[in-house]
Amino acid sequence: MSILTIKYCLDPVLRKKCAPVENIDGDLVTLSADMIETMYAAPGSGLAANQVGISSRIIVVDIGAGTDKPNPVTIINPEITASEDKILGEEGCLSIPEIFAEVKRAKRIEIKGVDLNGKDVRYETEDHVARAFQHEMDHLNGKLFWDMMSKIKRDILKRKFKKILKEVQKK
Ligand code: NI
Repeated sequence: MSILTIKYCLDPVLRKKCAPVENIDGDLVTLSADMIETMYAAPGSGLAANQVGISSRIIVVDIGAGTDKPNPVTIINPEITASEDKILGEEGCLSIPEIFAEVKRAKRIEIKGVDLNGKDVRYETEDHVARAFQHEMDHLNGKLFWDMMSKIKRDILKRKFKKILKEVQKK
């Protein structure tokens, strides 16, 4: 397993809609393991494949986040099939380091897809984990969490991010 480089938000790969996975092969199994390792090393509780430069519909989310039992799951070709209630909550993104903002998301969702064995999977989640799934789904569709904010708010965060990026690149 290896830790992959996480792409920052200005990288065009994060703006492209990811393609559905057609074949589950050894490379995909390796990618999933690497994504999970990269997610925990960051540290974060979710990661989409395009964040490591692969434009395919694969996400990993720690459905045990917020508890003392980590439980990373991989979903291939995920779809949110139901959502309920809206809730504001703080959100960050591994592709936009050190920037956090309040984002309105569904409180509860149902998500479906297939796992690494090609078996159908379905999760019903709420709060933090539901938020992580929605956030990663957005990544697969080329969206970032600040797209949901007003242009003024987004521009403030973008300026802040560019400053942070300069500091990071100086190191
Ligand atoms: Ni993100």
